[in-house]
Amino acid sequence: MKTELEPKILRFADGTEVSNAEDFRKRRAEMLDILASEEYGYIPEAVGKTEIAFSSAPKSISAGFGLFRTANVFFDTPKGKFTFPIKIYTPDNGKKNPGFVFMNFNFNTFDAYLPVEEIVSNGFSVALIHYNDVTSDNGDMNDKLCGMFDRPSNNTGYGKISIWAFAMSRVMDVIGEIDGFDSENIAAIGHSRLGKTALWAGANDERFKYVISNDSGCGGAASERIKHDNAETIAHMNNVFPYWFCENRKQYADRADEMPFDQHFLVACVAPRFVSVASAEKDAWADPYSEQLTCVNASPAWEVQGLKGYCGSVEPLAIDTSSDEGRVTYHIRKGAHYLSRVDWNYYMKVISNELGR
Ligand code: GCU
Repeated sequence: MKTELEPKILRFADGTEVSNAEDFRKRRAEMLDILASEEYGYIPEAVGKTEIAFSSAPKSISAGFGLFRTANVFFDTPKGKFTFPIKIYTPDNGKKNPGFVFMNFNFNTFDAYLPVEEIVSNGFSVALIHYNDVTSDNGDMNDKLCGMFDRPSNNTGYGKISIWAFAMSRVMDVIGEIDGFDSENIAAIGHSRLGKTALWAGANDERFKYVISNDSGCGGAASERIKHDNAETIAHMNNVFPYWFCENRKQYADRADEMPFDQHFLVACVAPRFVSVASAEKDAWADPYSEQLTCVNASPAWEVQGLKGYCGSVEPLAIDTSSDEGRVTYHIRKGAHYLSRVDWNYYMKVISNELGR
């Protein structure tokens, strides 16, 4: 069974070897550029300063464990000011807490994918973004923020994932201004298409110390070269979700071996920071074992810097087990495609371990 992915992380595109941390910085820049031009499209440059305006006073929630507030994030774009709302949940403990910038499908305070009470009572904060407030999940490239830049008309013009990732970074711009967040310990998190987005945001934006991919699958943590039964492919995505990516990616349908990248690049670009990849047993579409092998193949990005990357087995992990040692953590739980409490609890455990608390 195939377990190794090309191209190698520790080889520059010109064939020379990446042999230390300094070389890796250059390799990371090269990989990000390849991913931008061949897969997601270039994320637009931020213009000017991002600001936050709170739109409600802190309100006690979750039996008094948490505080809830709303705010708007503002920034300039080449076509004028843009703003989107966020919802903020923090422990009511007067401290700066580690936190999550979470882009979600819904904007509900008590949402299936957002166990607020568990999160705040574990001493974590959340800034919630609703992806539709940034740009709609369809092919309208003029919708909201997506229409606020001069999108290159060539094959590298951004797809929607790059615009959602841009918005996650704008929240990061102001996170230090929100009481209850420790801006040095923030994770980018998302599920499924928004897990792809969290990975791409976190790969690019080094202010995210932790990057979390929940069931992100094809175009996220699952590779193109290694697929298992019933896994999603680029060919499928070209028909259904072409607008998430740039035009260049389309050419790789059924030509995975010719790709100048694979998804281990995306995970590797988080190095030397922390990345956590999660799969679910019944989520064949997202290809759990491929997600695990992406971690395996990204690991040299940490090792070349003298750090532990992925420390688990190459063989598929047993259901309901994890690999927690090292900066590339992975878990697979029973159940279906979902951002569950089991997943949140795992991410909080990984971050708490790292923070020694
Ligand atoms: C579809 C799509 C996946 C995506 C998922 C989701 O199943 O094919 O790539 O991850 O939607 O976002 O829920």
